[in-house]
Amino acid sequence: MSDSLSPPWWKGASIYQIYPRSFADSNGDGIGDLGGVLHQLDYLEQLGVEALWLSPIFRSPMADAGYDISDYRDIDPLFGSLADIDRLIEESHARGMRLLLDFVPNHTSDQHPWFIESSSSRDNPKRDWYIWSDRPNNWRAALNAGSAWTLDERTGQYYLHLFLPQQPDLNWRNPEVVAAMQDVLRFWLDRGVDGFRIDVAHCTGKDDTFADEPRCITQPLSDFNDQPYSHEVLRGLRRVVDQYPGERVLIGEVNIRSTRQVLQYYGRGDELHMSFNFLPLDIGWEAEGFRRCIEEIETLYAPADAWPTWVLSNHDNRRHRTRYHGSLANARAAAMLLMTLRGTPFIYQGEELGLEDAHITPETRVDPGGRDGCRAPIPWLATPPHGWDGAATWLPFPPDADTLAAERQRHDPLSTFSLYRHLVAARRASPALRLGDWHELPAPPSVLAYRRQHVDDQRAVCINFADTAQVCPLDGQWLIELASDGHGEATPYDGRLAPRQALLLRPKDV
Ligand code: GLC
Ligand code: CA
Repeated sequence: MSDSLSPPWWKGASIYQIYPRSFADSNGDGIGDLGGVLHQLDYLEQLGVEALWLSPIFRSPMADAGYDISDYRDIDPLFGSLADIDRLIEESHARGMRLLLDFVPNHTSDQHPWFIESSSSRDNPKRDWYIWSDRPNNWRAALNAGSAWTLDERTGQYYLHLFLPQQPDLNWRNPEVVAAMQDVLRFWLDRGVDGFRIDVAHCTGKDDTFADEPRCITQPLSDFNDQPYSHEVLRGLRRVVDQYPGERVLIGEVNIRSTRQVLQYYGRGDELHMSFNFLPLDIGWEAEGFRRCIEEIETLYAPADAWPTWVLSNHDNRRHRTRYHGSLANARAAAMLLMTLRGTPFIYQGEELGLEDAHITPETRVDPGGRDGCRAPIPWLATPPHGWDGAATWLPFPPDADTLAAERQRHDPLSTFSLYRHLVAARRASPALRLGDWHELPAPPSVLAYRRQHVDDQRAVCINFADTAQVCPLDGQWLIELASDGHGEATPYDGRLAPRQALLLRPKDV
């Protein structure tokens, strides 16, 4: 643990997202589980990441793959038991990795006892734990669910759900809800987790006039819901984690495409420690888009003393390799970008193998939101069923599961896995990469070049987005520390970049 003078661990960490359903299976039912994660800790340790974030593993009817929780204090039998998570906390810690859980405050499952009570009668003491109305407004739910209001036949009122009808929204203006959910945090903090990724952290507060929202004609409310009360909720959660030693962290999913708004969720250092900013998910493989995005984030975050995060892939969006025309070279150059910007990078399981989205047919489709492609199981072994013995996996494997399998890549120095491993190690070794300032360097239009500097430690990065060679001379003399295609390492940089090549450089005299 760091003392008050050194920066908190999460600023320097590379954080790895595990989507447990698809990570690794330990009991042959075709669905990943905690036993599978325990079994693959060597792999994660070899990659070198400092923290793991697990998507939800709690009791759930699985209408939204676990983001519909029916008991926040228990593990779904599909994933294992409380004993398994205790062991995972312990074993991750023993290997120097922190463990973060997913906290889903906006909604429960409709099978949660709280909602079963709430919907049992209009005068049930838990009626006000959810949001009920006689007249629905025009709010639209996400995940293709249509109206955000569903009529409860029994009591004749509508309940609000910003996601599926099986995910009723909690009423965070009710102090009993606040207390009950803060207790959930304590339950897991007491068990030793290092923090939480907070699901749709911008959604807990609702416009309490329930006015129609013009943007809901085309968009779900959760794309832009941004109410002062959500900040109040976050301040309350922050007070809870701040009572624990060991720099526990709150990382919020603020799924709004506006840097200014996202920034508000850091509060005055009394809300989120970090928020996702998903702007990069909308940028294609082009230098100019990234240049503008990075400049915007640098310009707004630095003065606010807010620490950025970087995400190229997750369980809700097409994988970045798929978005970047399926090109592995592009995906690898993007990895260099992800891991060398100022801020905490999040690696989504399988991107370190260069995976693409699986091809999903109407027959293999599971998710009502159409997000199955990026949730395909990880191919551990080259030969089918790729380390998933037993029942067929819940989703098909991604393309090239044989050549991209983990076992093929772990000991191949030129593999994508090795590139990520070296990038994680490079961050660990360099204060400039972990904490340094970011300065753009002059470069041709299809190249993004920047320098990172912390006291006397320096690195430079040049990323060629073009499929032609580019010339990008830099002042001073530089050595290639790492190349996205593995070529030219430890040689002097001559100002030339191969097509789709990204280079990490260090000053020659160091
Ligand atoms: C977040 C999750 C997503 C889920 C939704 C509702 O956006 O990342 O997977 O469907 O919230 O919980
Ligand atoms: Ca299993």
